[in-house]
Amino acid sequence: MVSRVIPVDPFDLVIFGGTGDLAQRKILPALFRRYCAGQWNDDVRIIAAARSAHDQAGYRAIVAESLAQHAPRQAADPGNLDGFLNRLQYLRLDASSDDGWENLSGLLTDSRIRAFYFSVGPGLFAPLAEKIRQHGLANEQTRIVVEKPFGHDLDSARALNATLASYFSENQIYRIDHYLGKETVQNLMAVRFGNMLFEPLWNSQYVDHIQITVAETVGVDGREEYYERAGAMRDMVQNHLMQLLCLIAMEPPAKFDSDAVRDEKLKVIRALDPVQPHHIVRGQYSGDPDGPGYREAVGNPRSTTESYVALRAHVSNWRWAGTPFYLRTGKRLVARSSVINVIFKDAPHSIFGAEAGRHANTLSIRLQPNEGITLKVTIKEPGQGGMRLIDVPLDMSFAEALGPENQEAPDAYERLVMDVIRGNQTLFMRGDEVEAAWAWTDPIIAGWQARGDVPKPYDSGSTGPGDAELLMKRDGRHWQGIKP
Ligand code: BG6
Repeated sequence: MVSRVIPVDPFDLVIFGGTGDLAQRKILPALFRRYCAGQWNDDVRIIAAARSAHDQAGYRAIVAESLAQHAPRQAADPGNLDGFLNRLQYLRLDASSDDGWENLSGLLTDSRIRAFYFSVGPGLFAPLAEKIRQHGLANEQTRIVVEKPFGHDLDSARALNATLASYFSENQIYRIDHYLGKETVQNLMAVRFGNMLFEPLWNSQYVDHIQITVAETVGVDGREEYYERAGAMRDMVQNHLMQLLCLIAMEPPAKFDSDAVRDEKLKVIRALDPVQPHHIVRGQYSGDPDGPGYREAVGNPRSTTESYVALRAHVSNWRWAGTPFYLRTGKRLVARSSVINVIFKDAPHSIFGAEAGRHANTLSIRLQPNEGITLKVTIKEPGQGGMRLIDVPLDMSFAEALGPENQEAPDAYERLVMDVIRGNQTLFMRGDEVEAAWAWTDPIIAGWQARGDVPKPYDSGSTGPGDAELLMKRDGRHWQGIKP
């Protein structure tokens, strides 16, 4: 089963922050893989802009090294590599002065798709938008791509939305949440809305609760300054986990188009109840022989920034009233594992008697690694000895089910960057969605600050602080294990 590649129209893509980590690790490798797959061809120009001085050959050598590291299979073919590097130009440019802008203007081709990727710190979003307008670089076909963090709270997100809106219309602004580009995250919608099987049961009458876990083994190394100001709530919950919750909880949109999908997601965010202080646990990892603890890593022995959050959320609408959503995410945990578990209610009456035990179906959607879906069903234990029930998994790994050519799941950025070129905003966040997510997040953070809340320490390599287990236990439930 080989997926069909539909070539996109010719485009000019300008990457601001072209020497930065994100460009080298994600954006350029994603463009390269799409080039190798035949999604775009030689009639395309990628202009990488940054403040440092490089000649073309020097910059291309840097990119060649990054591609060898982040797209090694494709980079092993010298034809591919040269073809891609030839489409790449480096330009020295300064966002806060006029240096380089005339040169950029000279490089852009009229009347074709023109995308500007803001792969820079948030402080440069507004100056870049202004410069693009001021130098007359925005044509009918212009899009801008804005990386996270999109604001630090509701006020800053509103201000940023207003600034961008003064230069571009909403249908030109692509706010990235890279979780939406993940193959299995899109699959969530396919599973829910492409099958008759699940949707009739997808409500509080049949679903006991939902668990969304995004566990990481990495710490904050290399991003200390940003993380110390953000914490897990701003870094992960306000965006990635919120988006997953939306896709699980939303009503079926009338069609798979950008506003229909985003309207439904927005309704979910607006239906979220404020989180009660006793329904949230914050944690901070301690050091171990493999690495420093959080406070040591950020060089602040008194830091109260959380590297872990677990919380219980409620979506107050007809579909979900009474079904809690448990969300947790953390760094330096036991395994890298992102999974959504939908735990169905027990059968209302067991004809097999109390000794047959309680058995609840669970649908697990594994986002990474080992992408796939498992449905735990109850069957009779084989053999003699009466009716004993056991739970067995109906297991589908996408890599196995879809064949060897699909073993390498496309990176989220491949899909997202091509969607920018196609002009498809479905997998990007709309301004009102981001603001609604902050409106829900802000009071939680304000509450911590007002109470002088200090995160609970947890061991690196564990499943998080013990209080997160208590959060579940109090409700008579337990977290599913975090397995790689
Ligand atoms: C980023 C966060 O948005 O997502 C990081 O800023 C986090 O802190 C990363 O590590 C996780 O992404 P992924 O794709 O590795 O799950």
